Amino acid sequence: MPEDGSRRQFPAAAGAVSVKPTDVRQSRPGEGEESSEGALMPISVRRVKAGDRAWVRDFGTERWGSDLVAYSYACYVPSELDGLVAELDGEPSGLLTFVREDSTLHIVSLDARVRSVGVGTALLDAAARLATDEGRRFLRVTTTNDDLDSLRFYQRRGFRLVDLMCGGADAARLLKPQIPRVGEHGIPRRDEVVLEREVWPAEVA
Ligand SMILES: CC(C)(COP(=O)(O)OP(=O)(O)OC[C@H]1O[C@@H](n2cnc3c(N)ncnc32)[C@H](O)[C@@H]1OP(=O)(O)O)[C@@H](O)C(=O)NCCC(=O)NCCS
Repeated sequence: MPEDGSRRQFPAAAGAVSVKPTDVRQSRPGEGEESSEGALMPISVRRVKAGDRAWVRDFGTERWGSDLVAYSYACYVPSELDGLVAELDGEPSGLLTFVREDSTLHIVSLDARVRSVGVGTALLDAAARLATDEGRRFLRVTTTNDDLDSLRFYQRRGFRLVDLMCGGADAARLLKPQIPRVGEHGIPRRDEVVLEREVWPAEVA
């Protein structure tokens, strides 16, 4: 059962998770030294605060059609969840929301407003640090069969495929009709894929 804790408030100091630009660069997989200084963006990551709720609601509506994320097994309201906000030059540019389930930090949503500058990686790294700080062993996320970008993104960051729910996206659509029938790359969106990464302390930088 989810421990959730979504309505709990955290002290600012305890909730601060900062990611320096150098951390972001080091965390990019499969790459050597970055030669272009201009490629680094000042990304910082912090915990969602009470004052972020309206922004999270608007962001969710912009990204997912409503402030509701539906999977075959559960529905979530991201603006009520615990989460991490990535800021680029002080502007909110990405959001990761999560629930806690025993040894696992379950990512409910991960979205970058500006893509391919390291926002998603910074949020994922911060979630991994948070999970280990809390003594949790796994990060888990569910995506859909058509989302090849996410499948690449997570697998390049240490996630393994651990479950497949055939018809999962179709079932989720009964809970949230806005879920499109045709997803990325024109692929019918039908199934859910669960990925998991072990974040036991040795694996976290
Ligand atoms: C999946 C998602 C969260 C990734 O976020 P992102 O901010 O684009 O991710 P990053 O920028 O950290 O990494 C993306 C790519 O950009 C590259 N990149 C990162 N920083 C870079 C930089 N400064 N210069 C050049 N390339 C860079 C990374 O190497 C990465 O490539 P890879 O995945 O092949 O390794 C984003 O695409 C998204 O919001 N998708 C829609 C929602 C979604 O599908 N969420 C996941 C399901 S829950």
